[in-house]
Order: sequence, then C-alpha cells, then structure tokens
Amino acid sequence: MDFVEQLKSSVDIVRVVGEYVPLKRVGAGPRYTGLCPFHTEKTPSFSVHSGHQFYKCFGCGAGGDVLKFVMEIERLTFPEALKSLAERYGIPMPKRAEYSDPESKLRAAVYEMHEIAAQVFRASLEASAGAEARAYLSRRGVTPALAEQFGLGYSDRSGQALTPKLQDKFSPEQLERSGLVLKRSDGTFFDRFRGRLIFPIHNESGKVIGFGGRALAQGDEPKYLNSPETSIYRKSFVLYNLHRAKEAIRKRDSAVLVEGYMDAIGVFAAGVQEVVASCGTALSQAQVRCLKRHSATIVVNFDPDTAGANAAERSIQALLDEAMRVRILELDGGLDPDEYVSKRGAEAYRSRLQAAQPYFLWLADRARKKFDMRTAEGRVAGFKWLLPPLQRISDAIERAAVANEVADFLGVDRGVVLREFRKQPRGRDSGADQSAVPALRRIEVRVIRFLLADSRSRSAIFPHLCDNAAVAGFQTGALVRQICALHEHAPDFSFSELRDRLSEADKAMLESLILADNCDQGDGDSVEQVIQALESECRQFRVADLRSRIRDAERRGDLAEALRLTEQMSQVRPD
Ligand code: CTP
Ligand code: MN
Repeated sequence: MDFVEQLKSSVDIVRVVGEYVPLKRVGAGPRYTGLCPFHTEKTPSFSVHSGHQFYKCFGCGAGGDVLKFVMEIERLTFPEALKSLAERYGIPMPKRAEYSDPESKLRAAVYEMHEIAAQVFRASLEASAGAEARAYLSRRGVTPALAEQFGLGYSDRSGQALTPKLQDKFSPEQLERSGLVLKRSDGTFFDRFRGRLIFPIHNESGKVIGFGGRALAQGDEPKYLNSPETSIYRKSFVLYNLHRAKEAIRKRDSAVLVEGYMDAIGVFAAGVQEVVASCGTALSQAQVRCLKRHSATIVVNFDPDTAGANAAERSIQALLDEAMRVRILELDGGLDPDEYVSKRGAEAYRSRLQAAQPYFLWLADRARKKFDMRTAEGRVAGFKWLLPPLQRISDAIERAAVANEVADFLGVDRGVVLREFRKQPRGRDSGADQSAVPALRRIEVRVIRFLLADSRSRSAIFPHLCDNAAVAGFQTGALVRQICALHEHAPDFSFSELRDRLSEADKAMLESLILADNCDQGDGDSVEQVIQALESECRQFRVADLRSRIRDAERRGDLAEALRLTEQMSQVRPD
C-alpha cells in the first residue's frame, strides 16, 4: 500500500472534518451531516460518509476524500495536506513522500522561517533589549504569562536580529518571499520588523503565518506594521486568535469580534475565550465563513471611534450576507474592549456582552435618535431608513419577522411594512440544488449497494449482470461497468479507487446514491433477493423487447416472423 492509501486508511474522515464543521450522525448509520463549509447555507446539505470515507455537498457540489477536504479547507497543495494530516495524527511519513513541487517547497520554507522568527522575537522580549517592550506590556496590564500564551515578542532595533539566522538556512529567493526581510538597493537584506512589539498571527491549525508589529514610542509610524501577504498568509482568510478561540466559540455557540490585537488579548484574558479580531479592516466573506463553521452567532464589539464604526458597518454587512445572527455591543465611556476590561473588570465586560442587542434593534435605536419619533412621518422615515439593511436579510420569513419587530419597536403600522416589502420583492435564498442527480430506480440502488458491500456480494451478483439486457438501460450502467472492471483487476478495491475512475456525472450519481436517506437502512434485502429482482428485470426487458419486435413484424406483414417471436416470448418464464 502506498503512503497515500495508508494515510487515508488510518485517519477517520469524520474526525478530521469534525474539527472544522460540527457534524451530526444520521440515526445509527454511517452518515453524518452538517452545514457546508464551502458555501452559505442554513440547512445542511453537506454529508460525510464514515463507511466509504468521503464527503459531499449537494448544495455546491464540493466533495472528495479526506485529503481533498484538508486541501480545500486549509487551501493547501496535495503534498501539504498529506504532511499536515500525517503530523496531526502521528503517522510517520516516508522521506520520499516529502515535497517535490516548487510551490509546496517554498511554502514549507516560509512556514519554517516564521517558526524561527517567532522564536527570535520571543527571545528578544526576554533579553535586555526587550526592556522597553516589557515595560509597555506591563503598563497595558499584560502579564508575562499572558505574553507567553500569545507568543508575544520584540523585534530588535538593529534590523540584524533575524536576517542572518534566516540566511544561514534559506536562499535569497526564499528570504524575499517570506515577507520577513526587506532588501536594500545594494542587494543586502535587513529585518522588516524593528523596534516593535510583535504579535504572531496564526492560521486555524495554529501555525504562525505572519506578524503584527506595534510601535513602542509615540510618533513612531505607522502605529502597526503588519506582514505583507505571502504564499502562507492571505489576509482575507485569517482571523486573529481563531485557533485559540474556536473551541470556546463552539462551546458557547457564539463568537465575539473585536478590532485589535490588544482587544483580543485583553478580552481573552478576561475569560471571554471566544474572541477573534479582524485587525482593523472590515471582515471579508471568507473570514465570515471561517467563523460560521463554528457558530452562526456573533457579538460585534468594535471601537467607538469613527474608523471603528465604519469597519463595523461593513463587517456587519458581510456577516448578514452569510446569514449570521449578529448582536452589537457598544461600550460606554468611549472605551475600546481592551480598555473596558482593564478599567471596569472582566465581570462588567461579561455582563455587557450578555446584554448585547440584536443588530436590527440596535439599528432601530439609532433610527430613533436620528428621526423625530413623535410624528408619524418621522417614524415612517425612520423605518424607511432601516429598509435597505432589512431587505438584505436573505431568508424571507426571517426578513418579515425582523421587519415586524422593528416596526413595533418604532411604533410604525405593520401595514406600512407590508406595503414597503411588496414594492421591493427580493428572493436571494434560492437554496437551489446545483448538482441535481436524476432519480434512480430502486433496483439500481439495490444493485449498487451490494456491489459496494464486499467482494463476495460482487462475485455473487456479477453473473446476473453480465448478459442482462436490462442493465444496458440502467442509468448506472457505466458505473456498474467500472465496478466490474475494478473487481476483476483488484477484488478488494477501495471506495476512493473506484471514485477516482468515474466521470463527474457518475461520481455525483454514486455519491447521491450512497448518501440517500433510504440507502443505509438494511431493509432486510439480501443478495439473493437482488439477484431475483435482476432476473425478473431481465425477463421484463426481454418481453417488452419481443413485444415491440412482434408489432414491427406485424406492421411489415411478416407474419412468420411475428409467430416465431411470439413463440419465443411464451418461453420466457413469467414471474
Ligand atoms: N491596525 C493596523 N494598522 C494600523 C492601525 C491599526 O493593522 N496602522 C489594526 C491593528 O490590528 C490594530 C487594529 O487595527 O490592533 C485596531 O487599531 P487601533 O484601534 O488603532 O489600535 P488598537 O488596537 O486600539 O491599538 P492599541 O490598543 O495598541 O493602541
Ligand atoms: Mn486599543
């Protein structure tokens, strides 16, 4: 068995997928379902099959084996996914399976450089040069233990703390692609981060992929200097602290979104572990999806300043577009989350969090302040101001419910709500099944099920398939032929070997057949019964065929032929 097969047979896809997507078992069978991590949906069309070790989404068509899943969700190349799984599950990797393609090689080098950099920065924080940064942290209430937990560091002012260490091991090309060094006009390198407090940024599986560096002295510009995008750091896919927060996000079924590194650390230290930070920019759709895999509820707690409010507004839009339930926390006294926690304490912050208002009520509150709520015109104007965001709620039923709630809150007649909604009908929630598969006949489902069961069932059924004219008319005809071919060549083939041989259409058919609700329920069907059914199919097919040929012969006036065929038909044993 080659390493790929060995790995696939020693990790369980249900466990791997379960790390990214909460899954529910369907009855006591081999199927699990959950919300698809690859597209937006409210009802699960994503399944994982523990028996055949594959996943499939009938909403967006994503599907494959465990390696494909890791590649897609972590955006890795095939060898990287292989390595990632092998590391996670402690499966020793043969040397020859190491990376050979240039892209994977480069990324492996960049990951390693980030590991080294994180170590160098941590060590500098402890060293004498780090005194300034340590003093800064203690002023901001970050204990050494907390700094260690978040891997905080310091980048030396010299610009030569990191570069020589990287040059020892990596080529100039690799150095340049790391984002960790800058190049002078004479071609020499120096550290990108100098004289800054360093926040390592991790991906969802906890690897360091970039850094944020905060200036320490007043007037040092910019206040924050961040890693550029590299082959391992794609900003719109990353949320600060998600790898630490995801457990808590699932447990509490809610996340807290703040803006800055320090906010995330302060809020986390206050015991609110479900916190992630967007790092100063509005959330992207991809970031929202990362969050939504763990929970569909979020409290947005941005800075009270205008930049914060603008980022918040755009982020909220992205969250609503992905059908997240959004609540808003606005802290009093113009404090950002970090300041609030250190001034008012963890308890106070927690209770504010619990009292956070649903987004639309919070928005309605703003409308109340903006418009004159004493007059009917003012109330209607306020409601109209709220309409565009309301219209963006993708689910029609929820949209109407929220609109009514908001109207009640503002004291607007529900009739107005109805009228306004009629004016601008929307319908985004298509939920269309993009990979519709034609319905299969029951006999086909039964046959395939036994063909996939084991090599003994296959051997028993094959003779009844081979010269069975009815099978030629099966929609699964090509699938059956592939199974036969594989069986002859390797009787104990794996499901993924079969899957790899199929056309896209046959693959889709096979997946939908296996994941169909009625498929795992052993309804007392036996191989013998299926064979009987196949034989009966065959007879029916022959009778129908003869019948039409008799009709043709009669039409031509060839009575002798018609008689001969009728004779043949009478020999087909009836059921
Ligand atoms: N940010 C950035 N680049 C900047 C300014 C801000 O990347 N030039 C990001 C950082 O992630 C920062 C967040 O935006 O943490 C919020 O910015 P800001 O409110 O200015 O900083 P604070 O987090 O409040 O920083 P501090 O508390 O350290 O002053
Ligand atoms: Mn701050």
